[in-house]
Amino acid sequence: MDQALDRFIAGAQAVIEAHEEAAERVTLIAPLMRRLLESDKSFLKPHHLRSNPEHYERNAIHISDNGDLSLYALVWLPGQWTPVHDHGCWGVVGIVEGLLEERAFIATDGEITSHDGIELRRGGVILLNPGSVTSFVPNPDHIHMTGVSEECTGCVSLHLYGRNMNSFHVYDVAAGTRRLIDVPHQENR
Ligand SMILES: [Fe+2]
Repeated sequence: MDQALDRFIAGAQAVIEAHEEAAERVTLIAPLMRRLLESDKSFLKPHHLRSNPEHYERNAIHISDNGDLSLYALVWLPGQWTPVHDHGCWGVVGIVEGLLEERAFIATDGEITSHDGIELRRGGVILLNPGSVTSFVPNPDHIHMTGVSEECTGCVSLHLYGRNMNSFHVYDVAAGTRRLIDVPHQENR
């Protein structure tokens, strides 16, 4: 593995081993993400930068053997967005290139405990430049949609999650429902 990436993964693992609380983990891993973004980023190989005209692409960079950590490069073409979703875990996100937009959604009655009767209000928006780092923690889960506007160029972002991110809840805001879906990704090859 690349030296900067190796250092980042080892640092994140050390934080996880030393700290139980999600907020403490993201607080300590955010500077590590920033340092990774300040590296020469030679760990990003062509297969990590694949895009897909149909949808934003998730390219796996590292998935830990015990499933407690996963890192992806997400490649966004103009106008590509996630659905409204949550994560079920903590995460730290860093921007490699382009401008990533995040739109927040807030559950009006706090933590969501069922798959229907969910009232979401739209919250604020964050615009993330290259070098920016953001994070989230669960319970109540962080609900948002993320993407790149039609007017912008594409974007590449790094997403570290506190689990193997192979599924998440997708919300139908108008219907007030959510469902768990499997999230595909391109393997590390
Ligand atoms: Fe997300």
